[in-house]
Amino acid sequence: MELNPPLIIASGVGGMGEYLKLIDPKYIGAYTLKTITLFPKEGNLPPRLFATQEYLMNNIGLENVGIDAFIEKLNNNQYEELFEKTKVIFSLGGDDAQEYKRVAQKIAPYEDHFEAIEVNFSCPNVKKGGLNILSDLSSLQDLLIYMRKVLKGFLIAKIGVEGIFVEQIAQILKDHAWNGITLINTIRGLQIVNDKVFKGGLSGPILKPIALRAVYEVKNRAPELYVIGSGGIMCEKDADDFFKVGADAISLGTAIYKDPHIVERIAKHIGRCYG
Ligand SMILES: Cc1cc2nc3c(=O)[nH]c(=O)nc-3n(C[C@H](O)[C@H](O)[C@H](O)COP(=O)(O)O)c2cc1C
Repeated sequence: MELNPPLIIASGVGGMGEYLKLIDPKYIGAYTLKTITLFPKEGNLPPRLFATQEYLMNNIGLENVGIDAFIEKLNNNQYEELFEKTKVIFSLGGDDAQEYKRVAQKIAPYEDHFEAIEVNFSCPNVKKGGLNILSDLSSLQDLLIYMRKVLKGFLIAKIGVEGIFVEQIAQILKDHAWNGITLINTIRGLQIVNDKVFKGGLSGPILKPIALRAVYEVKNRAPELYVIGSGGIMCEKDADDFFKVGADAISLGTAIYKDPHIVERIAKHIGRCYG
């Protein structure tokens, strides 16, 4: 996958392309759509976000229109402007292995629209889904083999640090001819808000050392995997650090909520240092 610049909008934070209204597309290499599942999901009830300087905690719950409605919109050219402006990565999710397979079957005929398919194996905010699948190695391998057969293009697994060791999944992905890995997703956290338990996925600066370590370990063991660094990249120095430990591209999430100009600044920095 050739991205110029190697800077990606992370899944979820930019919705279905809305963030492109705020930035010049020349500053991004690709735009990842929000994860799409087999059935529509309304997501979780509020509160959905809790923010501090160190982290954002979200409990969105994979709200999305579902694959059939997504394909209908695709056929009605609703994403045409997005496709014209930038490369797009489709993010695929599900509640169990069967659902991942069915979404893969449904999106397969449309693969040409996308630079890559990123499979979200790590959403912490749904009752079933990614994290469970990762912890059952034999059905995980069956699923990876199946998806590799159905999807012919650039195939990326998005993995957190819960459910499986990143070194182990990297080896399995390599063995089954997957092309890349996004490291990491949010990590499960809990806060007491107004005396009530609030559970969600942590993102932002708190993730950076964890994500850096994950990228470092994977790139050392599986250099042929395309590695997208995701987690706490908030400034130019953060971007540098991810490239130093071997990331092929970086992905920005929480940072774009904090400062919409950060994409432009990091893209220019990458151009100067690595262009
Ligand atoms: C509000 C919000 C929604 C998210 N939704 C998704 C999603 O739908 N699919 C996904 O793979 N990751 C999702 N993520 C995870 C991000 O893509 C990213 O991997 C994570 O936030 C870590 O990067 P960051 O620290 O730069 O935000 C979401 C993150 C946030 C903050």
